[in-house]
Amino acid sequence: MATQAALSLGWFGLAGLWLLAAPLLGVINAPACLGSASDPRLLALTHAWVLGFLGSATFGGIYQLLSVAVGEELAWPRLAWIHGALHAVGVPVMVAAFLRGNFSWVAAGGSLVAVGALLASLNMAVTIGRARTKDAVAWAFGFSAFWLSATVIAGFLLAVNRAHPVLPGNSETWLKVHAHLGVVGFYLTLLQGAAFRLLPMFTLGDVKNWMRVASGLGHTQAGLIGLIFAIAEDIPVARIVFGATIAMGLAMSASEAWSVIRSRRKRVIDTGVRAFLSGAGALAVAIVLGLMLAAWPDAGDGFSVSGAVAYGFVAIVGALALAVGGMMLKIVPFLVWMRRYGPVIGKEPVPLASKLPSPLLERAWFELHLLGLVLVLLGLARSEAPWLYAGWATIVAASVASLLNHGRIAGHLWRKNRTLGGNAV
Ligand code: HEM
Repeated sequence: MATQAALSLGWFGLAGLWLLAAPLLGVINAPACLGSASDPRLLALTHAWVLGFLGSATFGGIYQLLSVAVGEELAWPRLAWIHGALHAVGVPVMVAAFLRGNFSWVAAGGSLVAVGALLASLNMAVTIGRARTKDAVAWAFGFSAFWLSATVIAGFLLAVNRAHPVLPGNSETWLKVHAHLGVVGFYLTLLQGAAFRLLPMFTLGDVKNWMRVASGLGHTQAGLIGLIFAIAEDIPVARIVFGATIAMGLAMSASEAWSVIRSRRKRVIDTGVRAFLSGAGALAVAIVLGLMLAAWPDAGDGFSVSGAVAYGFVAIVGALALAVGGMMLKIVPFLVWMRRYGPVIGKEPVPLASKLPSPLLERAWFELHLLGLVLVLLGLARSEAPWLYAGWATIVAASVASLLNHGRIAGHLWRKNRTLGGNAV
């Protein structure tokens, strides 16, 4: 566990760098949010979030949680370090290349990221394969590993296609397929499973209806397969039907998650869990926007252009960043505590893990991030760049608060033994 704590903390450290870099890119490129969805500056911004911050934090979480989720040691911990190195080098190359509009270099950086992600999927699949029992959570991890592989292969082909056309048909269709494979297939599927290990742990509540968890997962998987087919064949009715199937699956998961919260024995809902729940709220908004775009794809330019950007923004910087950021607030202090104080319990006074973070900075991150989301959405709705600048700058401020909080927690790793007073156990 201690070795895996170091691995996950390394990934979370990388996520911290991107948590600042990604919204800074938003400030610098704010006007690009009012243009086409495949503007290279917007693609750089998107991947700074999905691969830089969300990817690093999620892999940090996966390498720690997978063993707990399936009751089996991670198959190849060393491969996870190699994956970390490939990701740490590949993502900045990709983002810089997107900014310069150089798709040969996007493909070069992307190939490192893609190989790393394929190794991660293999590591996850073998670990899950070795597990004796496989519940809905294990299946969710397995499905998300599959979709991750599909996403990065599609992304790599899209990058090559921009430099030398290799893909048949319309590249916009491939772009939509790639984006939904990544966001719904990898991230949402993973959260749909991980939530039912994390929420009971953090709230001391119980999952009562595992059938509902499994059914929710089944609906999203079936809906996603259908949605990809509907996008590829450009059948609007099928897009709505399969989009609604995904929404139904997520609603089932949300209702079971709510029953876990209601059965909680820990009365206070802390900022980490609140952020996770707000992420679910943002996801509901993204789903409504997505269904509207599917139903009226030809509605005026104003709606379809900023509607598509708003859809991606609410899903990625709203739903995913809040849920993953909330998860980090709970996992990072625990990992730091385990690594620094785990080996000396009983030998010297140690603080409680819950005393490592600053509740004030946690709230500052959460509230500023929410405010930033609202400001950016106002900018998109009114097509006015000043709101976008204000929104992204507010998200930068949120990230600074989060980094100060995580820096304070990480500081314990280097802390020498000293008398810890009232909080010691
Ligand atoms: C989980 C990982 C990933 C997710 C969630 C993801 C998500 C997305 C999203 C949402 C878009 C649309 C952005 C927009 O329209 O502004 C996009 C476009 C794109 N992605 Fe990714 N991506 C991932 C990984 C990758 C990787 C590893 C590569 C390269 C190897 C890649 C290459 C591309 C390219 C080239 C485009 C633009 C395609 C075009 O406009 O022709 N992506 N991605």
